[in-house]
Amino acid sequence: MIILGIETSCDETAVSICANGKILSNVVGSQLIHSNFGGVVPEVASREHERLLNNLTIEAINNAGVKINEVQGIAVTNGPGLAGALLTGVSFAKGLAIGLGVKIVSVNHLEAHIIANLLDRNDIFFPFLCLLVSGGHTQLWLIKEMEDYILLGETRDDAAGEAFDKGARILGLKYPGGPEIEKCAKSGDSNFVKFPRALINSKKIEFSFSGLKTSLLYYMDSFEESENCKLNDVAASYQQAIIDCLISKMKLAIELTGVNTISIAGGVAKNKHLRKSIDKYLIGNKIVFPDLKYCTDNAAMISYLGEKKIEMGKHSQFNFSINPNFNFKIN
Ligand code: KG4
Ligand code: ZN
Repeated sequence: MIILGIETSCDETAVSICANGKILSNVVGSQLIHSNFGGVVPEVASREHERLLNNLTIEAINNAGVKINEVQGIAVTNGPGLAGALLTGVSFAKGLAIGLGVKIVSVNHLEAHIIANLLDRNDIFFPFLCLLVSGGHTQLWLIKEMEDYILLGETRDDAAGEAFDKGARILGLKYPGGPEIEKCAKSGDSNFVKFPRALINSKKIEFSFSGLKTSLLYYMDSFEESENCKLNDVAASYQQAIIDCLISKMKLAIELTGVNTISIAGGVAKNKHLRKSIDKYLIGNKIVFPDLKYCTDNAAMISYLGEKKIEMGKHSQFNFSINPNFNFKIN
């Protein structure tokens, strides 16, 4: 089946073609305009999606080497995400599907992030654990099989990506903060500041990053860069604190479930120091990392999951709506 996927939940406008489980094209128009504002401005994001969608769709079709009338179904993210941004994608997708006379399927963005682990590979098997770390979510999932998922635990407050983004702002770095902190931390000493690691010793799978952010804010109040005290050291220590919390709960999830195939998903999964630390501290388990291009928001994960759903007969009726606060608590 040839499926066209559309993703517009936040500040990435993305279109992809998937055919029989294979990604034929994956185009992403990142809206760099938001870095001028230090974060995503919802109205600007919607307008940018509107401006970019048509051309990116043509590009995705051309890159895939297919013709528009060969597309057999449209998959689109309908939540969670920014309402206006989701609406642009869903409206565009519905119009296209009606025009082409093909099926449409709405896709949950978080489920798609997790399922991105299956893209371009055949060495991951159910059941597996997945740490989903994005700008809005930090959750640990047990993925028993397709559409059979158990949420093991999540953050009580900020998401890991949010901790990176807000931390970067406090450190005077640009948006999005994750890659900026990673870059700045590269030559830093991660033991330089002892930032708190909330809930690290609790026997529950839960995270909390808001105290860490406040602690960075207080630390930076009296910070002056010098030969012995560099911004890189602070960034490295802050990044390490986030990573330590994530890894401790991955370990706990392995202990509690007995499942030892573990994967990661979402924008923060791009972080190379996180990947290295997982390899180091979770040694002895089967560790699966999705390709970097499938971690941050993309439409490949949408077209792939959409195809699976259509194959299972789970396409949508045309009256489906956006669901900005989509809770993804299956089972
Ligand atoms: O999955 P995603 O693209 O969008 C959401 O669904 O939220 O994730 C975006 C988040 C941002 O918070 C961004 O700072 C973070 O992923 N991120 C990173 C890195 N690249 C992106 N965090 C840490 N290290 C990175 N290299
Ligand atoms: Zn995302």
